[in-house]
Amino acid sequence: MPHSLASMLLLLASAAAQKPQLAQTPPMGWMSWQAFRCEVDCAKPDACINERLYKEMADRLRDDGYVAAGYRTISIDDCWEAGVPGMLRRPGEQLMMNATRFSSGPKSLADYIHARGAKFGIYSDEGTKTCQGYYGSEGYEDLDAKTFAAWGVDYLKLDGCNNDAKGFATGYPAMGRALQQSGRDIVYSCSWPAYIGDDESVKPYDAMSEAGCHLWRNWHDVQCEWSSVRTIMNHWGNNTAALEKAAGPGRWNDPARPRA
Ligand SMILES: *[C@@H]1O[C@H](CO)[C@@H](O)[C@H](O)[C@H]1NC(C)=O
Ligand SMILES: *[C@@H]1O[C@H](CO)[C@@H](O)[C@H](O)[C@H]1NC(C)=O
Repeated sequence: MPHSLASMLLLLASAAAQKPQLAQTPPMGWMSWQAFRCEVDCAKPDACINERLYKEMADRLRDDGYVAAGYRTISIDDCWEAGVPGMLRRPGEQLMMNATRFSSGPKSLADYIHARGAKFGIYSDEGTKTCQGYYGSEGYEDLDAKTFAAWGVDYLKLDGCNNDAKGFATGYPAMGRALQQSGRDIVYSCSWPAYIGDDESVKPYDAMSEAGCHLWRNWHDVQCEWSSVRTIMNHWGNNTAALEKAAGPGRWNDPARPRA
């Protein structure tokens, strides 16, 4: 091996070794989907997907002791984006928050959450559109990772709607690389396995880890009823051997997302 190549490889190896080790324990926190879904009508008496919801939750998580107990990440799910479902994204078009519902802007919301000792989680999709039809990140991984880093995002859930699942093997690694090159430490949650069936023993855990995923959503959404929680528990029980083998520091199974 030529000398220069050997020293270059050494350099690369030490750069990799210096990368911060994220998600050494399973990330915990609160996310809005199960209770608030895609409620964008803020004239209703109940909460909607707007900055007030996440600020209130940041206050609650801090003031009620959840942050101190390790429930740190406040995550926005779908429906935070500007525009209306079904719109076509233009080449180079940057993601933006809905300016009516997030009038202070993403950076200000991130600052608010960080000031409470919490982490800022956001959502996108490795498809042409999100599950609710807003712009997806497929083909825009570098741009979106840079945008999220500039906003102060600490955690990304990347969903798998509007992709035929054949694109996962290249799309999820593309976002993983983009996040690693974004200049910010961002925990990467991949919904990849939730879209490829019920048999946990055949899912590509090593490929997901190599793609940079620190955790992955294995299965269906939890609903607001005991039967749903019980089904998820039974699925876990039925697949314990495979799931146990897949998990470890920096690579976690995520059963579903009930409220903290
Ligand atoms: C923001 O969301 C509202 C619904 O709450 C919608 O009517 C409005 O068109 C959206 N605005 C922008 C700029 O996307
Ligand atoms: C778990 O396995 C049992 C026994 O085979 C089966 O009856 C049940 O439906 C399974 N539950 C889930 C959620 O897969």
